[in-house]
Amino acid sequence: MKLSHLTLTLATTPLLSASPTPAYPHPSRSKYPGLDILAKRAGLLYFGTAIDNVVLNNTQYTSIAHNASEFGQVTPSNGQKWMYIEPARNVFNYSMGDAIVLPAIAHRQLRRCHNFVWHNQLPDWLTTGNWTKSELEGILENHIRHEAQHYYGECYAWDVVNEAFNDNGTLRSDIWLDTIGPEYIALAFRFARKYTRPGTKLYYNDYGIERINNKSLAVAAMVEDFLSREEPVPIDGVGLQAHFTAGTSPGYENITRVIEVFAEKGVETALTELDVRVKLPDSSEEMVQQAKDYADSVRACVDSESCVGVTVWDFWDTVSWVPDTFPGFGDACLWTANFTKKPAYYAISDVLRGD
Ligand SMILES: *[C@@H]1O[C@H](CO)[C@@H](O)[C@H](O)[C@H]1NC(C)=O
Ligand SMILES: *[C@@H]1O[C@H](CO)[C@@H](O)[C@H](O)[C@H]1NC(C)=O
Ligand SMILES: *[C@@H]1O[C@H](CO)[C@@H](O)[C@H](O)[C@H]1NC(C)=O
Ligand SMILES: *[C@@H]1O[C@H](CO)[C@@H](O)[C@H](O)[C@H]1NC(C)=O
Ligand SMILES: *[C@@H]1O[C@H](CO)[C@@H](O)[C@H](O)[C@H]1NC(C)=O
Ligand SMILES: *[C@@H]1O[C@H](CO)[C@@H](O)[C@H](O)[C@H]1NC(C)=O
Ligand SMILES: *[C@@H]1O[C@H](CO)[C@@H](O)[C@H](O)[C@H]1NC(C)=O
Ligand SMILES: *[C@@H]1O[C@H](CO)[C@@H](O)[C@H](O)[C@H]1NC(C)=O
Repeated sequence: MKLSHLTLTLATTPLLSASPTPAYPHPSRSKYPGLDILAKRAGLLYFGTAIDNVVLNNTQYTSIAHNASEFGQVTPSNGQKWMYIEPARNVFNYSMGDAIVLPAIAHRQLRRCHNFVWHNQLPDWLTTGNWTKSELEGILENHIRHEAQHYYGECYAWDVVNEAFNDNGTLRSDIWLDTIGPEYIALAFRFARKYTRPGTKLYYNDYGIERINNKSLAVAAMVEDFLSREEPVPIDGVGLQAHFTAGTSPGYENITRVIEVFAEKGVETALTELDVRVKLPDSSEEMVQQAKDYADSVRACVDSESCVGVTVWDFWDTVSWVPDTFPGFGDACLWTANFTKKPAYYAISDVLRGD
């Protein structure tokens, strides 16, 4: 199935006049019309969510996920990763990506596409091959060319390279670094520019870079290097994943300061995978702290000229990646397992409304 090449709809004003003004306006509806509606009023391009393929059979889930008043942007959590897209060499399968991208197009939600290059979720044929440098460069170009062309014009942004740095600011040892060398990152960005529609935002995306530290400074130095070369390496943005823990989140000042560092290097930013986990069992105190941490993070983006939008890494606790990855932690999302909106949802709305 080939996607139609719709032009990117960067809808600015949502349709607020679709129904006549009710005689008795519902106060909570007018105060909480949806996160994306409020985000656009606050000057952001979108408020979005990641969507996972495993829950597409749940209509309660999909009706929120594709409600453009809540989420003006979606990111496939898994469906566009290498192991699903190219499960055998030069065999491409877009069904998991399309299952999220096609309904998002229909609902006029922007797409952040995720991702071309990562050290994780790679297919066995790729990780067990004993590739030469030039073979692996060819595999990289072929993968980016096919996936970029399939989603040509359909992605506001692509996460071109994901999680390439260690916490201490050195490059992570993986198949890409170990076979191609540090230039694999620049190479991936050049391939991405070559095969995506002009204007597609090309992002470097990572975790642990939401404050000034050795890792974020290394990413900033990479951006500076890329853009100052005689033939600049095309990079448009840095994605701050923003996977936080209630009570130890970096907070408003740390986030705005590091966003400013990236802006000075000449790139836009976004919070691309925001969630705030709590220690289980959950408590009302923790929900209050979680709400504060979500709200502070969103406020940091709103107040930063270069930060274009916020994406939560799924909105429903039941499908959050947190409990599997951080045993003893959970309840990281904006909606509870029974689809009730948490205090954090209302706290974010209040920030976006400027309260
Ligand atoms: C979409 O979300 C908004 C905000 O929560 C809500 O008011 C509206 O009813 C939802 N629309 C649908 C079709 O569920
Ligand atoms: C969706 O599928 C999963 C397994 O893939 C299953 O556990 C779940 O109950 C299904 N949900 C619905 C609403 O059918
Ligand atoms: C493509 O992937 C989907 C989802 O994993 C799978 O159901 C389908 O069988 C695959 N198609 C082919 C031709 O392998
Ligand atoms: C990998 O390839 C190199 C160069 O062709 C060769 O020297 C080496 O023995 C191979 N290693 C394995 C584990 O096959
Ligand atoms: C940086 O971190 C990596 C991964 O933990 C480690 O292998 C490497 O030795 C560290 N380098 C320095 C200079 O500390
Ligand atoms: C970078 O790492 C060094 C060595 O671990 C540490 O002393 C220094 O404080 C770090 N710099 C920042 C900005 O975190
Ligand atoms: C910023 O982060 C540092 C740790 O890197 C933390 O000690 C400090 O409390 C944070 N600042 C704020 C205002 O949250
Ligand atoms: C939904 O879950 C929340 C938190 O777990 C709970 O407080 C609330 O009573 C539940 N609502 C329903 C309708 O079950």
